[in-house]
Amino acid sequence: MPRTLRHGPQRRTHPLVWFLAVICTIIAVAIIIAGMVVFVGYLVIHPRVPFISVANAHLHLLDNDLAGLLQTQISVTVRAENDNQKADATFSDIRLTLSFQGIKIAYLVAGQIEVSKKKSMDLNYVVQSSSIPLNPDQMDEVDFSRKRNVISFELKGSARAMWRVGPLGSVKFWNHLNCMLKFHPSNGTYIHSRCSSKSK
Ligand SMILES: *[C@@H]1O[C@H](CO)[C@@H](O)[C@H](O)[C@H]1NC(C)=O
Repeated sequence: MPRTLRHGPQRRTHPLVWFLAVICTIIAVAIIIAGMVVFVGYLVIHPRVPFISVANAHLHLLDNDLAGLLQTQISVTVRAENDNQKADATFSDIRLTLSFQGIKIAYLVAGQIEVSKKKSMDLNYVVQSSSIPLNPDQMDEVDFSRKRNVISFELKGSARAMWRVGPLGSVKFWNHLNCMLKFHPSNGTYIHSRCSSKSK
């Protein structure tokens, strides 16, 4: 059966449709560029997120008796730092655990602290612990630490931090700290090492 071929007037795109298409394209490109600017901006400021670190520490006392009880006194300065130029930071729920050979000695905690832009705040803790019961292996470890003149404690925990951006906005961060605090038992000096929740 032969087909009927009809030749009608060519349908032309209305200029308004073209206009709308161009406007939509411009809006889409603008959104993509804005997104990239925010993303690059975030990458640039990201290394400056609020963080916590160990600024200093000292081993004041390390004593163990034959019964296997360890007595110690350690001071630790935890620094909450906000390198941001524009926003004040709020740290909350700082909770760190100090342990020796897996034995929890102390919790270093802090509630809410405010750190202005480009400022830091030091939290000083003095841990006094008497009669931490050690098993024979742990006692050997203490003796070995004395001989080597290096003793390690573990400091582990987390803190929350937040930037206030404008009257309503905020950016939240979750900081994790996991490091070894090393001291010379002979004079109690802290052996500085990188102990920070900063990712880089
Ligand atoms: C503590 O002892 C270590 C190792 O013996 C030494 O390197 C360090 O300088 C001493 N620190 C002080 C403050 O005397």
